[in-house]
Amino acid sequence: MKKNSEWWKKSVVYQIYPRSFNDSNGDGIGDIQGIIKKLDYLKMLGIDVIWLSPVYDSPNDDNGYDIRDYQKIMREFGTMADFDQMLEEVHKREMKIIMDLVVNHTSDEHQWFVESKKSKDNPYRDYYFWRKEPNNWGSVFSGSAWEYDEGTEEYFLHLFSKKQPDLNWETPALRQDVYQMMKYWLDKGIDGFRMDVINMISKNPDLPDGELEEGQQFGDGGKYYMNGPRIHEFLQEMNKEVLSHYPIMTVGEMPGATTDDAKLYTDPERNEVNMIFTFEHMDLDSAPGGKWNLKPLDLRDLKDNLTKWQMGLHNKGWNSLYWNNHDQPRVVSRFGNDQNYRVESAKMLATCLHFMQGTPYIYQGEEIGMTNVKYESLDDYRDIETLNMYKERKGLGYSHEEIMNSIYVKGRDNARTPMQWDDTDHGGFTKGTPWIKVNPRYNEINVNNALEDSNSIFYYYQRLIALRKKMDIIVEGNFELLEKEHPALFAYKRKWQDEELLVLCNFSQEEVVIENEELLRKIRDYQVVISNYESSNKSTLKPYEAIVLKK
Ligand code: NOJ
Repeated sequence: MKKNSEWWKKSVVYQIYPRSFNDSNGDGIGDIQGIIKKLDYLKMLGIDVIWLSPVYDSPNDDNGYDIRDYQKIMREFGTMADFDQMLEEVHKREMKIIMDLVVNHTSDEHQWFVESKKSKDNPYRDYYFWRKEPNNWGSVFSGSAWEYDEGTEEYFLHLFSKKQPDLNWETPALRQDVYQMMKYWLDKGIDGFRMDVINMISKNPDLPDGELEEGQQFGDGGKYYMNGPRIHEFLQEMNKEVLSHYPIMTVGEMPGATTDDAKLYTDPERNEVNMIFTFEHMDLDSAPGGKWNLKPLDLRDLKDNLTKWQMGLHNKGWNSLYWNNHDQPRVVSRFGNDQNYRVESAKMLATCLHFMQGTPYIYQGEEIGMTNVKYESLDDYRDIETLNMYKERKGLGYSHEEIMNSIYVKGRDNARTPMQWDDTDHGGFTKGTPWIKVNPRYNEINVNNALEDSNSIFYYYQRLIALRKKMDIIVEGNFELLEKEHPALFAYKRKWQDEELLVLCNFSQEEVVIENEELLRKIRDYQVVISNYESSNKSTLKPYEAIVLKK
């Protein structure tokens, strides 16, 4: 049996959302053969690992995060033979592939649930949570987290859509079935898992009511289902039974996890997961009441937060680094400037993230600076979270304009529009009609254009990835925040042995004049490692300028 090594500390991961990546057969839906066609593109970018969002058989209530059969490929995406071919082609190019593991819930069409629903004494009944009386928890996708089943006259729990019933990890047989399924994929040769909302698998078995805020219809049960009572035990069991037997990487998606939780989850001595996705930095531009309540980002909050994670996990666990994924708006529109400084700000944001300690994740299209989208009509939106929220807020009396504005800023479909390959119809994503409309900016923002322009965001990412491979300080060094109170400058220092790196990022469209004498002296003496402007005057940063210097 091979022992886990730490290859993932030096890796850069690229996330593919298969539905929107590349359609090879003209049905308007991305597929596995489409991915195979683009592997050379990913290799050219320099990435090491592909994280594949779910490709399993699914009725697609939540685009594959509702799995009907864990060991079958979604028909629209291809066959198991296509999958095996993709795995081989990925490995041939010396890249790796990690799969999404969605085991907090299944689809209501999964065989386990079909059985569970049949009767109260069905052997699968306890694979899910059934109650005579529901508690007051709300679902992440609006409404109650409970659905009534007429057949057996009980309610079942679904923290997400009602087609995503939550699995009950208290049931030992369920855990064993999950482990068997994980082994099936690992034995095929995949290189790890991204684990969907994995810190929600242990619920307080009493399922107590959550706090009810004034004016709210449903309670927030988060503290009873996030980082629950047996979560570490379950992860350690999974590690012992499955993960530890393979040389793989694991990343747990963990909403509501703090740095203290993260230390427990990622401390190598504890044998749980290698790293987690935190949500804290993604919540800084939300007002109380959740993500749809908009608030401008204060850069000082972002600096404080990322510093806390950088320092908190140094030598104790491991960070994942990300700005984007299929659930988040596009970062260049969110924290950058997608109008006058799209290229500069996309490169600046990449610089700021890629010089930190941790494993960086790039979401498809980020490497060409893809932007948020504003469809006029709600009919052009597809995401269940967005559509449910619209209905709920309409009922609560919000205006159409107000709701649409939240969708423009935070909706998940911002990330899910088709990948923009070229300036032909639908951005070259499909020869048919895409399942969701392409972003109208595809004429300007596309892979073809990026590859033809040596100054493009693409080639900048390529350089960032190459630098990480060359400079151990990026992987190993410690982190110190500089100019903590500055409202527009994100500056930090990395140190390792006798090496030092300075990273200076201007998060605004105004010039930033550096006044700190010590910093100025270093800026003058140090050598430029990378910068997003051709020339830099060093003591005054241009709009969205980023510059990295080394001693
Ligand atoms: C997190 C996934 O990233 C998201 O896309 C999904 O809707 C929920 N988990 C439920 O699986």
